[in-house]
Amino acid sequence: MIGFQREGASLVCDGVPLDRIAAAEGTPLYVYSAATIAARYRAIDEAFAGCPHRIHYALKANSTLAILRLLRSLGSSADANSIGEIDVAMRAGFTPAQIVFTGVGKTPAELARAIDLGVRTVNVESEGEIERIEALSRERGTRTRIAIRVNPDVDARTHPHISTGLKTNKFGIPIGDVPALSARTRGRDLVEIVGLHAHIGSQITDVAPLVNAARALVDLARALSAAGATIEHLDIGGGLGVSYDGAPVPGAADYAAAVLPILRESGVSIVLEPGRHVIAPAGALVTRVVDVKEAGAESADRAPRFFAVMDAGMTELIRPMLYHAFHRIEPVVRTNAPLVSTDIVGPLCESSDTLGRDRIVPKPEPGELYAVLDTGAYGSVMASNYNRRLLPAEVLVEDGAWRVIRRRQTLDDVLALEV
Ligand code: LLP
Repeated sequence: MIGFQREGASLVCDGVPLDRIAAAEGTPLYVYSAATIAARYRAIDEAFAGCPHRIHYALKANSTLAILRLLRSLGSSADANSIGEIDVAMRAGFTPAQIVFTGVGKTPAELARAIDLGVRTVNVESEGEIERIEALSRERGTRTRIAIRVNPDVDARTHPHISTGLKTNKFGIPIGDVPALSARTRGRDLVEIVGLHAHIGSQITDVAPLVNAARALVDLARALSAAGATIEHLDIGGGLGVSYDGAPVPGAADYAAAVLPILRESGVSIVLEPGRHVIAPAGALVTRVVDVKEAGAESADRAPRFFAVMDAGMTELIRPMLYHAFHRIEPVVRTNAPLVSTDIVGPLCESSDTLGRDRIVPKPEPGELYAVLDTGAYGSVMASNYNRRLLPAEVLVEDGAWRVIRRRQTLDDVLALEV
């Protein structure tokens, strides 16, 4: 069994007990399962095998070098959202031809670097950006391949903070405007539209909106081709969700079964940009109980409730605070203590610094370890130094052993930037 499982009382990652890893590496600590990353990547690849496709893993979900190298070894390409992510992808061994560059606010310097490197495509967000790309291409005597990021006005039915496909969202070019824009762009000789792109949101657990977006892209591609454009690929973005609470959600096979019949009509190749679906369940944040306190009771007849104050909080994992995201939180070694309702909270001076509320756990004790599950995506990458806290270490479990893939930050690392 791969991933995070219970063996007896102990939570293990690919068979390695988390308490053993935490004892050696300290907490807070991100632990990743290489076997899970590989299995989830391959599941997407196999699900789309019926159609020429490329998987451009979305670096924003987790771009630790060792994880990128693992994905590259599996055949993945890369989706980068900043010049930082482009450079990190290249340091992990991806070639520019394996990188698509997305992003709602690419600066001229970022565009120039991407053009100089010759990334596979720049996914453009506006006509203004096309003009800037053309000017930069002219200065360089080169021609740049772009994909138009389309805003299909499809409701992804996910958290509003991570919904991007509605016309009221800041992303992409309204789908109705694209035919005229495409016609105008064909008059430009240094910018070539080779693809259409849509990413309607993240943590999507209903395939219907993804199907609607695919339909919109295919219909648009057909209209543009009829008008003389040469569309080589459709980029259907990322967005496929995972189950954070254990309830069933569509997997890669369900997603492919729903969108492939539509995408195949286009006759062109498909680009996917999955992030979360590949990496979220492959990671856990391991954190230690620092203090346990009884919470003030709302009424005298209620059972006592507790706060377990952890050594990780919003600085290590901001998703619960930012999106009210639910993550399962489990004791690493289950005890026989009586079950109590506990708020698992962080150490920061904000009441919203809470990892999970009202969790029924064996009464926690200081020193015990907990694992916050499904935190491989948008966990470590969104960590911060607020309160001068240091970024956690990260380890990758592979073939029954673990190795540190990012050491814990030190205060000297942080202060190296300051005078
Ligand atoms: N492609 C584009 C253009 C994107 O903007 C994103 C994510 C992806 C691909 C990957 O999406 P995924 O497959 O991971 O859903 N911090 C938030 C998620 C933000 C997602 C932003 N864009 C969270 O923690 O839920």
